[in-house]
Amino acid sequence: TIVVDPAKQTAKVQPEMWGVFFEDINMGADGGIYAELIKNRSFEFYKPMMGWKVEGKRIEGDVLVLNRQESKSSNPRYIRVKTGGKQTDLALYNEGFKGIGVKKGLEYDFSVMYRQQQKGLKLHIALVDSTGKVLGQSELIPEKPDGQWQSQHASFKSAETVEKANFKIWFEGEGAIDLDMISLFPGDTWKNRKGGLRGDMVQLLADMKPGFVRFPGGCIVEGHDLSTRYQWKKTIGPVADREVIINRWNTEFAHRPSPDYYQTFGLGFYEYFQLAEDIGATALPILNCGMACQFNTAELVPLDELGPYIQDALDLVEFANGAVSTPWGKVRADMGHPEPFNLKMLGVGNENWGPQYLERLELFTKALKSKYPDILLVNSSGTDPDGERFDLLNTSLRKMKADIIDEHYYRSPDWFLKNANRYDSYDRKGSKVFAGEYAAQSKAIANPGNQNNWECAIAEAAFLTGLERNADVVHMASYAPLFAHAEGWQWTPDMIWVDNLNVYGTPNYYVQKLYSLYKGTDVVSILEDNKFISGQQGIYASAVTDSETGELIIKIINPGKETLSREIQIKGSKKAAATAQLILLQNNNPGAVNTFSNAVNVSPETSPLSVKNNKVNLELKPYSFNLIRVD
Ligand code: AHR
Repeated sequence: TIVVDPAKQTAKVQPEMWGVFFEDINMGADGGIYAELIKNRSFEFYKPMMGWKVEGKRIEGDVLVLNRQESKSSNPRYIRVKTGGKQTDLALYNEGFKGIGVKKGLEYDFSVMYRQQQKGLKLHIALVDSTGKVLGQSELIPEKPDGQWQSQHASFKSAETVEKANFKIWFEGEGAIDLDMISLFPGDTWKNRKGGLRGDMVQLLADMKPGFVRFPGGCIVEGHDLSTRYQWKKTIGPVADREVIINRWNTEFAHRPSPDYYQTFGLGFYEYFQLAEDIGATALPILNCGMACQFNTAELVPLDELGPYIQDALDLVEFANGAVSTPWGKVRADMGHPEPFNLKMLGVGNENWGPQYLERLELFTKALKSKYPDILLVNSSGTDPDGERFDLLNTSLRKMKADIIDEHYYRSPDWFLKNANRYDSYDRKGSKVFAGEYAAQSKAIANPGNQNNWECAIAEAAFLTGLERNADVVHMASYAPLFAHAEGWQWTPDMIWVDNLNVYGTPNYYVQKLYSLYKGTDVVSILEDNKFISGQQGIYASAVTDSETGELIIKIINPGKETLSREIQIKGSKKAAATAQLILLQNNNPGAVNTFSNAVNVSPETSPLSVKNNKVNLELKPYSFNLIRVD
């Protein structure tokens, strides 16, 4: 018998408790949620024409790559197209990110920056399939012959749905024109924002009602070396002025590096804040602490040169929260958001460790806390949740009275089951925990066979009972990584998989979504034989009440292959409604996965459950996550 006592509240659940960890890994941003369809739109990749192909009789024209590094270091390259004859057949093709996914009837928004001394050239633009057949097209006559950079738009609809189309631009007439920022966006972006995010991908996040969005990573914060670290100030303002850099996951140190993986920062810090706001989540930016990735170059900024890094952190708070009369508050307002973003917390460092981290962290903390005492700081605890390094660092961070410590675990399903009680014995009064990157691994990281299978997800579900039960200690948690493109990933497993046209949530997605949607407000006592339910008799359980809805929510996980039975007794004088709701996430096959063709193979099903005299009899199916909602 399981005994639940809704009157015995043991902890408050933080509104931020279940959130998402965003990183531009696996084509998460460029080629993913950032809906730009043109790869290398500003010719800034290592090879300027990566993603592009020039066709036609070159005798009739030319395409030159020009570099204005001295005058515009943030976007130095552009192309000059010259056509020699009236019947020129010069054309440029762009392959997109693993092709361009095109939808029938959808509008496509083309834009370009051009510069011309005189009128003469007409631009034709189209989406074409692999045979060259035009799916949709338009033309654009550059209007201004004033020798200045101008931008112009055109749009057209696609007549067909094609997963891997190409973009084509060709020219009519005689003359020369400079082109940059050749861009194409689908018309179904999130909230229909021009130059925005892929609506279907954001929707899956919004459906989770996440408590926070952590951004921009991950290792991407640290950079392979310091020159490629994430610098938020370079990711705001006009998109054409955001400096493109190589992606951290495009190096020999990445699992499955991809040579054409760059960060264009069309999704930059302003857009991250906006995304968090749109989906009702708290923004959690993570900043570089003056250390490059310790698995890569391990470069350090000397302590006496850390000033600009710390200033970036201080300025970020002003950018997010400052009045429009402050310099950085004005930048935010000029970008379209005069109201503050209400930043409450920020992270200093990702997976950094050792005395080098501690001494840098101390300087950041001093500066940030003296100017912004109310901003909570998230500190890193390295990468090894069981190791000596973790213990040493954790002890030091706790001595420093860290607000929140970010723990990461990429471990086997068995580790997750065995660690469901990890936080039962943590100090209740000291630093809080952010389980910032968790994911059970069926095989080694990035092994193609390392799948988002049900065995992993059910082990996570069991582990999460321990996070929920200890919500006084664990204030936040997120699965990682978040997104992966089926043809462009560096890391498996991942929470949400996409291709050019489709998106699906894994069983792991549904596990965290259920925790998030039914997080409640107060943790309440749930015991078996007077003990926490954490694997001793084959099951795991936690319970919360929701003060807004008046519900009691019980989560019971049976990760084993046998069916188990339990009676659940709801204690107290309050009478439970006669019918409860069971939300069941279950599959008899621990190897079960979701796929593009069977996206809901493992997904929740709802059914009624009868309650008699505050008692529920429940059959716990093999490999099942049972969520019970009682009024
Ligand atoms: O989630 C993938 C990577 O795992 C993150 O970038 C890093 O923080 C961790 O090592």
